[in-house]
Amino acid sequence: MADIRLAGVGKSYGTHAVLGGLDLEVRSGECFTILGPSGCGKTVLLRLVAGFESPDSGTVSIGGKVVADGATKRSVPPEDRRIGVVFQDYAVWPHKTVHGNVAYPLEVRKVEKESAKARAMAGIEQVGLFGLHDRLPYQLSGGQQQRVALARALVSEPDVMLLDEPLSNLDANLREEMRFEIKELQRKTESTILYVTHDQEVALAISDRIAVMDRGGRIRQIGTPAEIFERPVDPFVFRFLGIANMLPAEFRNGAAYVRGGSEPIAESLPADAAGIQSPLAGFRPMDAVLDRSGPGASGKVLRASLLGPIVDYRVEVGGATLRIQQLTEEATAKGLVFKEGEACKVRFHDLRWFPESEDKEAAE
Ligand SMILES: Nc1ncnc2c1ncn2[C@@H]1O[C@H](COP(=O)(O)OP(=O)(O)O)[C@@H](O)[C@H]1O
Ligand SMILES: [Mg+2]
Repeated sequence: MADIRLAGVGKSYGTHAVLGGLDLEVRSGECFTILGPSGCGKTVLLRLVAGFESPDSGTVSIGGKVVADGATKRSVPPEDRRIGVVFQDYAVWPHKTVHGNVAYPLEVRKVEKESAKARAMAGIEQVGLFGLHDRLPYQLSGGQQQRVALARALVSEPDVMLLDEPLSNLDANLREEMRFEIKELQRKTESTILYVTHDQEVALAISDRIAVMDRGGRIRQIGTPAEIFERPVDPFVFRFLGIANMLPAEFRNGAAYVRGGSEPIAESLPADAAGIQSPLAGFRPMDAVLDRSGPGASGKVLRASLLGPIVDYRVEVGGATLRIQQLTEEATAKGLVFKEGEACKVRFHDLRWFPESEDKEAAE
């Protein structure tokens, strides 16, 4: 176990500044995820921690020890950082058996043969590949190959595991299974995990904390999955964490209405929202209820699709198209399953208020 600390880390390629003075602290023993869009600098950051790249400025520390310093250009080589690395394209060696792959880092370190064998076998068992040690990679599924890569990273008992989108080449079912396995492995090994991904589902499922990074390599918010999901600090974070509706609104007399109309959205406003110019009401598809009558904004169902346990609607309100989802069972029981073309009333709960100017910037 060790903590990871980045202080003022800058990294450019030519004139392209990927990271500009990044500060980040990963606590010892936690699973910390950096979540951000493709090209934002996640792999660069991980390579800086691993020691495959050097920072232009700032320092990287692992376990309280500075391993790279942009000012002095001093850098501890990757093999001396006590890290395990799994990259998305960090393929296993095709000509080596499972055992050969996993034992390799120990061979490099000249660990005595019998001891290396025992540790490799233990690692293979740990990732659920017991009995498959003699197989060659082509005799394994994609998920099993990824587990070989995990075991290889774990076998030298690293203080820190660096995982770069290790699940993105797997199909949805396997991805889900592997998420739990990574979490389980972390519990067993107690290693610190720094995980980078663009996949918000994976991030929400495995992380103790998440840092959301924007396209400019800046961190927008750090928090637990629940904090990031429930209380996004800005439209970028809100949009990045799942399906997001943004309904243009206006405030009058302490209440909110569809912009340019009289359809009510909220009867009261939180104190910190009241001053927002050109507000947008942000909500998730499940944060609205469709009804046939009663209070709420008038809407029209444009599309309705039954997705098993949920009904997925496109609903037009005040010229905006909203994505709204209802639980099939509940809607059926209440006789509230709508067909395309039907009029409806939309009532909102769990609204978040954002200034439209911030959303324009987030959408760029
Ligand atoms: N060795 C390199 N030389 C030049 N540009 C690079 C290099 N590595 C990464 N970049 C650029 O840095 C940016 C961030 O890349 P990367 O960290 O791979 O993004 P991602 O968040 O998708 O992992 C990209 O614009 C990429 O083109
Ligand atoms: Mg990457």
